[in-house]
Amino acid sequence: MATTVIRCKAAVAWGPRRPLSIEEVEVAPPRVHEVRIKVVATGVCHTDMEYLYETGKGMTFRPFPLVLGHEAAGIVESVGPEVTLFSPGDKVIPLFLPYCGECERCRSAKTNLCRKNWANTQVGVLADGTSRISCNGQQIYQFLGVSSFCQYTVVPDTSLAKIRSDAPLDKVCLLGCGVSTGYGAAIKTGKVEKDSSCAVFGLGAVGLAAVMGCKTARAKRIIGVDINPDKFEKAKQLGATDCVNPKDYGKPIQEVLVEMTNGGVDYALECVGSPAIMRAALESTAEAWGTCVIAGWTETETMDVKVIKILMGRTLMGTYFGGWKSVIDLPKLVDDYMNNKLKLDEFITHNLLLDRINVAFDLLKSGKSIRTVISLQNSPEED
Ligand SMILES: NC(=O)c1ccc[n+]([C@@H]2O[C@H](COP(=O)([O-])OP(=O)(O)OC[C@H]3O[C@@H](n4cnc5c(N)ncnc54)[C@H](O)[C@@H]3O)[C@@H](O)[C@H]2O)c1
Ligand SMILES: [Zn+2]
Ligand SMILES: [Zn+2]
Repeated sequence: MATTVIRCKAAVAWGPRRPLSIEEVEVAPPRVHEVRIKVVATGVCHTDMEYLYETGKGMTFRPFPLVLGHEAAGIVESVGPEVTLFSPGDKVIPLFLPYCGECERCRSAKTNLCRKNWANTQVGVLADGTSRISCNGQQIYQFLGVSSFCQYTVVPDTSLAKIRSDAPLDKVCLLGCGVSTGYGAAIKTGKVEKDSSCAVFGLGAVGLAAVMGCKTARAKRIIGVDINPDKFEKAKQLGATDCVNPKDYGKPIQEVLVEMTNGGVDYALECVGSPAIMRAALESTAEAWGTCVIAGWTETETMDVKVIKILMGRTLMGTYFGGWKSVIDLPKLVDDYMNNKLKLDEFITHNLLLDRINVAFDLLKSGKSIRTVISLQNSPEED
């Protein structure tokens, strides 16, 4: 049982709308049902950026100081009392969505929304109401109970997936959020069917993974929609049959899509996080059976829906972490990657060290990156 405090580096958000600051922090030993992990690699997701810049606006306010980061992979360093499923040396993916395996929701096939430790992790602390990260004696909150922008972190044992020992952590970290979410939005939540037509709104990591999911489901037509045409090449590489830029048309994009598909797509996947685009996505689906899946994340905004659109047989759904039951489904997604059934390398456009994490935020904000993978323990090739 570990009793030592680990001193290491973390990127700390001291307040909203400010760049992250690299600090030396202390990471306390894991307590009951907790695991301390050495974080090897982490992606920077749009949700990290939204919480930093939109907290208190589009996103519910999160307490600061905070260590962000929730799309990571690492190695178990030590385990706390009563942990039975993990041992030091195990390769793992920490999870912002738990799976306890025991609650009503975990036992239901209808949902992946386990609520174990939910209330506390949403406000940045673990089960006992405190975080394990501190800086000069000041408590630093843990984002979604994960905080992967730190060389070590402590997570509940129900928020950790054990993965195969040959998995490359600097790639499979992307399964901790973005790729799993978009891929699952298509194949798990939306259940895209063979020979169907699909439109994917937003071609960041989540949207590109949704394109990949539509392709895996053998959809006939996959239309990528983005206001940044630089995203189109990769979308086509991952399976998009057409790409459209709403800025190229003098009318709403839903009208363009309805015309392109003679009545609307069978599936629309919203991967931007904007209520106006959610509405456009719904309205681009076909009457009678069109399905719109929302993966984009916003917490305080509301969405306009014309009731008649729903009355006329359309289905509006949301997906959280792609509908996957995190602990049990992630190892299978890792297998799919290792067996070349799911792509990850194509999503990685940049590799950086932790010290340069603010560059990763700039790249994401400016639309120049899909995913930057931050290496926390050693030197990646920088570009
Ligand atoms: N549901 C979940 O569990 C979950 C998990 C991860 C991320 N998300 C959310 O998914 C969304 C996408 O995340 P990401 O990391 O791929 O983001 P990203 O920033 O990499 O990609 C967003 C894309 O949307 C495009 N876009 C912006 N405005 C647009 C418009 N008007 N029309 C069409 N495209 C537009 C951008 O050009 C960009 O390519 C975010 O809202 C994020 O918070 C949700
Ligand atoms: Zn994310
Ligand atoms: Zn549960």
